[in-house]
Amino acid sequence: MSAKFVTIERFILDNQPQTAKGDLTNLLYDIALAAKIISFKTNRAGLQEILGQAGNTNVQGEAQQKLDVFADRIIFQLCDHPGRVCVMASEEQETVLHIPDQYEKGAYALVYDPLDGSSNIDVNVSIGTIFGIYRYKDWDLRGRKEDVLQPARDLVAAGYVLYGSSTMMVYSTGQGVHGFTLDPEIGEFLLSHENMRLPDPPAYYSINSAYYNRWSKDVQSYVQWLQGRIDPPAPEPSPTLSSRYIGSLVADFHRNLLRGGIYAYPAEIGKPNGKIRLLYEAGPLAYLIDQAGGYASTGYVDILDITPDELHQRVPIYIGNRVLVEQAEKFIQGEIMVTA
Ligand code: AHG
Ligand code: MN
Ligand code: MN
Repeated sequence: MSAKFVTIERFILDNQPQTAKGDLTNLLYDIALAAKIISFKTNRAGLQEILGQAGNTNVQGEAQQKLDVFADRIIFQLCDHPGRVCVMASEEQETVLHIPDQYEKGAYALVYDPLDGSSNIDVNVSIGTIFGIYRYKDWDLRGRKEDVLQPARDLVAAGYVLYGSSTMMVYSTGQGVHGFTLDPEIGEFLLSHENMRLPDPPAYYSINSAYYNRWSKDVQSYVQWLQGRIDPPAPEPSPTLSSRYIGSLVADFHRNLLRGGIYAYPAEIGKPNGKIRLLYEAGPLAYLIDQAGGYASTGYVDILDITPDELHQRVPIYIGNRVLVEQAEKFIQGEIMVTA
């Protein structure tokens, strides 16, 4: 029996179209390299006094962690000069990030959440990086905000890196979702999960139920349905689910991708768009879940269809097995009413 070692480089290369120039392939390599650097830094965080807050707040008024700052900088630095990217947008930066004048602008627009789940950094719980890649809108004008304000349906690739008990990079270029595990001894991502599909029946629901009182009646009823406490008239009986919530979207998403389930961050009273950011979180993950046979919705619309109006726009999100997400839509749109 011969062991099959497929590195992420090999896999990306083997799967790129014959006609491709290789820029997207190489951009994915650049991101994989950033992921390795962030991973090694994350593993050593406790040793390097990098833990704790950097003393800044980001554009959204949240405290930035030192690892957020590090991850944000390293992704930009690895992608600003090889001539593959024309503009970037990061969750941690107020405006789009332009390619410095001395470097060539490429065809792709990169959006990223450099460190997702940052409240978990200091407590040694899994965190992640999320990214999405668009193609330029207009070649002569490439490098504008318009290049990143595109619906997730137009992504040409998306993925995430999970810094967990092992580090994994999971991505799609529109031909299925593939997962790679970092072998820290050789410093390579090796193919470990080819063509990931959401299992059915699903195993988990993931929602911060501490916010129960902030949700609308419809959302409350839906969550009760997830918990098996309500049997709506039709069409689906309650599933049998267990609850898991890490508070790092990447980690919650990854577990649900492997085991089946739903992650939700609903609208709240006073927070009609919830918390999750369309461009850096909801969009790329909606692209991946679609590729894995699932679905992502705001409760009203398919997240893949939303054209962002602004960089840091938020959306309510229900993402996972289609049957669970469609049921959320039915509750939220009033198709299923529960009388108390
Ligand atoms: P980020 O660390 O990039 O700001 O994202 C945090 C997000 C997401 O990862 C997670 O699922 C959610 O915030 C948790 O929020 P609550 O603590 O409100 O549940
Ligand atoms: Mn995030
Ligand atoms: Mn973040």
